[in-house]
Amino acid sequence: MVRQITKDEMYDAVAPDDFASMIEVDRYAGRATAFDKIISATHDHFWDPLDKKYIDFDEGFDIENEALIPEDFVPALQTKLVDEHLKGKERIRFINEVARWQLSAILHGEAGALALSASLCHILRDQGAQEYAANQAREEARHVTAFSKYIESRWGAPLPCGPTLQNLLTEMVNAPEVYKKIVGMQMLVEGLAMGAFATFFKESNDPVMKHLMQLVMTDEAFHHKFGKIWADRTVPHLSEEEHNIVEDWAAECFQTLLFNLVNPEQMKDLYADFGLDWEEVMAAFLEAATDDERRERMQESTDIFRVLIKTLLNAGIITDRTKDVYATYVNMDELRQEGDEMVGDAIAEEGIGFLQKVNFGKDEGYDLKAHASAAE
Ligand SMILES: [Fe+2]
Ligand SMILES: [Fe+2]
Repeated sequence: MVRQITKDEMYDAVAPDDFASMIEVDRYAGRATAFDKIISATHDHFWDPLDKKYIDFDEGFDIENEALIPEDFVPALQTKLVDEHLKGKERIRFINEVARWQLSAILHGEAGALALSASLCHILRDQGAQEYAANQAREEARHVTAFSKYIESRWGAPLPCGPTLQNLLTEMVNAPEVYKKIVGMQMLVEGLAMGAFATFFKESNDPVMKHLMQLVMTDEAFHHKFGKIWADRTVPHLSEEEHNIVEDWAAECFQTLLFNLVNPEQMKDLYADFGLDWEEVMAAFLEAATDDERRERMQESTDIFRVLIKTLLNAGIITDRTKDVYATYVNMDELRQEGDEMVGDAIAEEGIGFLQKVNFGKDEGYDLKAHASAAE
């Protein structure tokens, strides 16, 4: 028996194969208005990855001689073993292959987000929520196209998905529970993505990659808000037992995402390609990364986990029960004191300004908050 934890009628769900419920006469009368602003804002940030007036993937980059991302974005280079092993052109090739692995993981994540939002259409009963999900599915589809195009232009083809990430995405896409989908994808994966996109946008040496990140963020900022609306309307009404279920699921997803990013086993083929053994790299990591160093790195405001942790914290999903899972990577008290401004929002706003100019010939600035909040 599937346990749905639904506190607001607009997240009411049926089984994925229960189409009969969708054509019940009573169903058509209700339609939540909470997502209307986000749905209609989709026109403000429309873009087409195949149209050069938005982005041109034919713009080249000297991938043999230039690193796409800075060295401190490649944690393995902070270890003595890898640092001493890779010099000159081979070092640049390594950095660019790590970038390829990271962007491939993002591409697989986008494919997961596409399948997941489509799956929400099958289970959510509310028409407004369904329209939101269908709209997100359409935007995720253009992200899949955009990242495929970018990867094709730089490397020809993506790298396969690491097994840990693949398992997590599969579990979310196939889960019948709405809370698992929304907490796992909308809050954690989307939160991690916003953090990663913001960092790539700021740090990348490739103007095409920078621009791609900003365009994707104009959409993702809204997806991330959908998770927030769910949390605002659900978390305060959870019983202690239900809260524990949601909180534990979030901690489990977080640990999996972290593992995917930091465990060298997930990219062992890549290390092998450079004559490095992943188990030796792992040992070198353990030797190099004292907790203090890591914590310092994590506390940079653009750090990729920060958006994700802040979202969960603001939503009341992290309590004393699980805060230690996250506390190693970020100063929780400091995070608690910050406002609810997210690191990616300013970049997304600027991106929407660009799209307004291309789409409508005007650039009057864009207030993301006003368009992405829940309609009352
Ligand atoms: Fe996406
Ligand atoms: Fe998304």
